[in-house]
Amino acid sequence: MDVTIKVRRYDPEAENPESYWQEFTVAAEDKSTVLDALIKIREDMDGTLSLRCSCRSSICGSCAVRVNGQARLACKTQVSEVSGPDNAIVVEPAGNMGTIKDLVVDFGTFWDKIVAIEPYLQPQGPEPEGEYLASNESMLHLSAVTACIMCGCCVSDCTVLEVDPTFLGPAALAKAYRFTADPRDGDAGGVSKERLEKLGQVTGMWDCTRCAECVEVCPKGIAPMERIMALREQAMAAGFNNCNGARHAEVFVDLVAHSGRLDELRLPVKTVGITNIPALMGFLPVGIRAFTHGKMPPIIHKKIEGAHNVQKLVEKLEKPEKV
Ligand code: FES
Repeated sequence: MDVTIKVRRYDPEAENPESYWQEFTVAAEDKSTVLDALIKIREDMDGTLSLRCSCRSSICGSCAVRVNGQARLACKTQVSEVSGPDNAIVVEPAGNMGTIKDLVVDFGTFWDKIVAIEPYLQPQGPEPEGEYLASNESMLHLSAVTACIMCGCCVSDCTVLEVDPTFLGPAALAKAYRFTADPRDGDAGGVSKERLEKLGQVTGMWDCTRCAECVEVCPKGIAPMERIMALREQAMAAGFNNCNGARHAEVFVDLVAHSGRLDELRLPVKTVGITNIPALMGFLPVGIRAFTHGKMPPIIHKKIEGAHNVQKLVEKLEKPEKV
């Protein structure tokens, strides 16, 4: 079948280097991938089209692009899967990273953030006589995270990075979990408190908004957001509760347990503390916008019928019965 591939082009050496769209019509076979189509364009139609690829088997992670607005591995995406009734596909460079040329993006900040989480084991305490041992279960648990191929799909579509490029991001935080969950890291099988402390700082684990885009687009099922939530649990269990993120989580549960639903008015106030006037003043613009748009939560928050059942559920979750 003939497929129209609309590619976002960019040439930094052009006289007026601005991105633009270019369409190509490619004859695709039944099982052709988007990467096959792009390579065909480069080889037969326009040799100046720049793209990255290597393994063509979803292993090297170099062919991540946005297809129809969503990050994907071009070599893992069949043309028939994404071409729709009009037989057209839109291909753009991965997001949240600067474009070098056409579909090639700059992974500089991606790797800087991976380096920032210190991606190597840091055992503490006395060295064992033989080897550092790790149970099969712990390695099986980690195998899901170690399958990451660093393609950058999660970073491309992270909605927090879109507004705050300093956020560590899903790839680096998932990689950090690979070490905090490794029994050979930290002290005698415990989680490294130093790591958790660093990861809990501003731009770290608490900045994820749980939009789940990273889970949606990860081609390897790493579920980076789930790893970030696991990091938060580790941090709270290790006693790092004195930050807005941890307090937000605790207050959220308390409020729901108390009235059976979230009291949105008290959530930010209790999170930052009633005496923290500067932080409370920071909420004013949002409060005014909510008020003028008729979205202000009610000042008198009523309990729902059967709120005691919600309380029981929360207690059950916090202290599960032993089987
Ligand atoms: Fe290696 Fe696509 S070319 S993952």
